[in-house]
Amino acid sequence: MAKVKTAFFCQSCGYETPKWLGKCPSCEEWNSFVEEMVSTTKKEVVAFSSSTGRTAKPQKIAEIESKKEPRIQLRDKELNRVLGNGLVAGSLILFGGEPGIGKSTLLLQMAVKEVGKTILYVSGEESDQQVRMRAERIGLDNQNCFILTETNIQNIFKQAELMEPDMLIIDSIQTIFTQHIESSPGSISQIRECTAALLRYAKQTETPVFLIGHITKEGSLAGPKVLEHMVDAVLQFEGDRNHVYRLLRSIKNRFGSTNELGIYEMLGNGLRQVENPSEILISDSDATLSGISIAATIEGLRPMLVEIQGLVSTAAYGTPQRSATGFDLRRLNMLLAVMEKRCGFKLAAKDVFLNIAGGIRIDDPAIDLSVVAAILSSNFDVPIAKNIALSAEVGLAGEVRPVNRIDQRIHEAQKLGFDKIIISKHNKGIEQANFKIEIVQCTRVEEVLKELFSQ
Ligand code: TYD
Ligand code: MG
Repeated sequence: MAKVKTAFFCQSCGYETPKWLGKCPSCEEWNSFVEEMVSTTKKEVVAFSSSTGRTAKPQKIAEIESKKEPRIQLRDKELNRVLGNGLVAGSLILFGGEPGIGKSTLLLQMAVKEVGKTILYVSGEESDQQVRMRAERIGLDNQNCFILTETNIQNIFKQAELMEPDMLIIDSIQTIFTQHIESSPGSISQIRECTAALLRYAKQTETPVFLIGHITKEGSLAGPKVLEHMVDAVLQFEGDRNHVYRLLRSIKNRFGSTNELGIYEMLGNGLRQVENPSEILISDSDATLSGISIAATIEGLRPMLVEIQGLVSTAAYGTPQRSATGFDLRRLNMLLAVMEKRCGFKLAAKDVFLNIAGGIRIDDPAIDLSVVAAILSSNFDVPIAKNIALSAEVGLAGEVRPVNRIDQRIHEAQKLGFDKIIISKHNKGIEQANFKIEIVQCTRVEEVLKELFSQ
């Protein structure tokens, strides 16, 4: 019988040590070591290991045949785009997100909508009845979508080899285990071993494999960084659970760009793809209210317009409150300091709240000018005309700085029917004659304010 050996694994990065440590020397996480059993039986027995018997030889790079990876085009346009315009055969994709955000829904929806493909959906978390109920809600189109409720990876491979699916979905990697390792499912060694086996399966059979993974409280993928290194792409599904919008981002992608963004709306019958994000991010009420401004931003390759809401009120208590939803609080504080020091607005004794509509988070500095405009509009209680969009960064000296891909931003604002867009004077090469929308170029925040509030 194999001797049982134990080792300590960092649950955050997978670092292995024979003794318990308080702090991980690799990722510097505190109190992250957990004792796990390591079986001393030979590793080769671990699941999917049917070897092809091929030995690789070195080749000259110039002589390697460059083949275009054939990509499987998915019906789900958002997912398709985030993957880098199609799914590459044999790729292993990790799909992360907080519990309840809709990971299972999205992948099941993809499985039941991909008519003509055989898809094996392995559910380790829910019973077949539960999955069936969910599929009915979404609408069952694909007759060749198979559900397997199994957590033992050897059995999963047995079924997969029999069935030869076009796509394999594992929900979730934390529930799958291999009997060759004695630690419990979800532990680092199980996750690592099962992922390695699934990686071999994906590469040898050229089947794309999706792994669903949970996210820890701290927001990183549970089980660790090691997983991120092994897979070809890491997609993250995020959003505010109280809002209906969900964002799909790619954090790593060996076959495409990582700054793509997919947007979905969670409805009673599954996730709807949002093709024109600006429409949902701008409220269409007729009333003109103070404290609202529209920013032209870019997420990935997509320009979109978002509504920035600011509220300034006199602080009731000694220390004024500053709070930001969907925007970096430190950046808000910086912009407030710029307004105070460079533009002379007394905001130090005011509470300032900032919100980006739709529950999404934006890091694009091009929304700075809009943030400043929304706050000052609320401060003066003067609304900004609804037909004006803004797109520029604000510097520490109160200067209006240029932003990248300005023509795409201007086009998007024009497409959505805005009459005027305010940008930086330093964005060169913009010809008013090429656009119907009026372009106003400013160098300082004061000029922008005059433009917005002097009528
Ligand atoms: P789920 O996919 O189970 O989340 P995860 O796998 O990430 O843990 O998503 C569950 C939530 O989605 C649940 O709160 C119910 C909601 N939901 C809808 O609003 N509409 C639907 O059509 C479905 C299937 C789920
Ligand atoms: Mg789930």
